[in-house]
Amino acid sequence: MLAGLLAVISLIHYSLGRGAEGMLHGVLGHLYIVPIILGAYWYGMKGGVTVSIAAAVLFSPHLFLHWHDPYLDVYNYVELFLFLLIGGVTGVLSQMERNQRLRYEEALQRLDESHRKLKEQTDILFQTEEQLRRADRLSALGELSAGMAHEIRNPLGSIRGAVEILKDDYSPDEAKYEFIQILLKESDRLNHIVQEFLGFARPKQPELHETDVNEALESVLLLTTQEARKAGVATEKRLDGSIGKRNLDEGLLKQAFLNIVLNAIQAMPTGGTLTVESGLRNNTLEVKIADTGIGIPEENRKKLFSPFFTTKKNGTGLGLAITYRIIENHRGKIDVVSEPGKGPTFTVNIPV
Ligand SMILES: Nc1ncnc2c1ncn2[C@@H]1O[C@H](COP(=O)(O)OP(=O)(O)OP(=O)(O)O)[C@@H](O)[C@H]1O
Ligand SMILES: [Mg+2]
Repeated sequence: MLAGLLAVISLIHYSLGRGAEGMLHGVLGHLYIVPIILGAYWYGMKGGVTVSIAAAVLFSPHLFLHWHDPYLDVYNYVELFLFLLIGGVTGVLSQMERNQRLRYEEALQRLDESHRKLKEQTDILFQTEEQLRRADRLSALGELSAGMAHEIRNPLGSIRGAVEILKDDYSPDEAKYEFIQILLKESDRLNHIVQEFLGFARPKQPELHETDVNEALESVLLLTTQEARKAGVATEKRLDGSIGKRNLDEGLLKQAFLNIVLNAIQAMPTGGTLTVESGLRNNTLEVKIADTGIGIPEENRKKLFSPFFTTKKNGTGLGLAITYRIIENHRGKIDVVSEPGKGPTFTVNIPV
């Protein structure tokens, strides 16, 4: 376009002689300034200088055409000089403006980048804070229940010992023998509950042994067959046989999975499907346990793993809190997703 402009201006300029249209001829000579400024504006310093040199070359025949007229000679030299000056100055100015703009754009980009980083780190901070708060709550509650459980267990032991001794005085066919049996059974049950609390308060550190996760899952399902059958729950298994044996605490993991599976069955009192899935991804063990039960309302989802959160009449609310601890002690993670109106899927990830 610049070349075109130069060509058109030259063509008109040279086709008009200096005669009657002398004024017009002079004005047209000045028109070279238009492509010079455009060149400088579009291409900076280089553009301005290049176009002004081109214009000067195109204009240079004037120097020879009027060489006998001293006034016009000087005038033409000045014109040439002006072309170069305008090209150079406009070029420098536009170059400066362009550099400035580039610097602004770069600064803007850096600002965007650091804003993104800041946001990422704030998110991590929030997550960590939530985890810390949960851990804090757990440990405070843990200490409290540890003290309490300890206080209860000792007298409970004495009670049981005394009942054992009394038992010898009654033969099985006596009416009171049944009461002795009730005492024994109930104190055993109490002891079991206290044991649970203690286990939660002073969590056992995992003892890692070669463990087949699929076998652990199978045994949990076997243990809950009765409950599942009573509720009319069908079980679907998708266990990845290639996982093999991994370093895990089998007893603790069974307990963790059992809590999730029991919850799932309890959430389907009128039947449904329990799906248990295992797999390995990037050296991380993944177990998914899903049900088609009543689901979890959004407002409860955050509280699920808090100790003593329960919506059940006879629940302790410790099941998932214990599970959370166990998975955490395995350096793993537990997550739950529950679409409204659908049963939840619990996902356990453990690096192995
Ligand atoms: N699969 C599930 N579907 C629907 N709600 C669930 C499910 N799993 C857990 N919940 C909810 O989470 C709460 C806490 O579960 P958690 O296992 O910790 O305690 P719990 O089952 O109430 O008591 P416990 O385990 O001592 O019997 C439950 O009361 C229930 O409201
Ligand atoms: Mg439970």
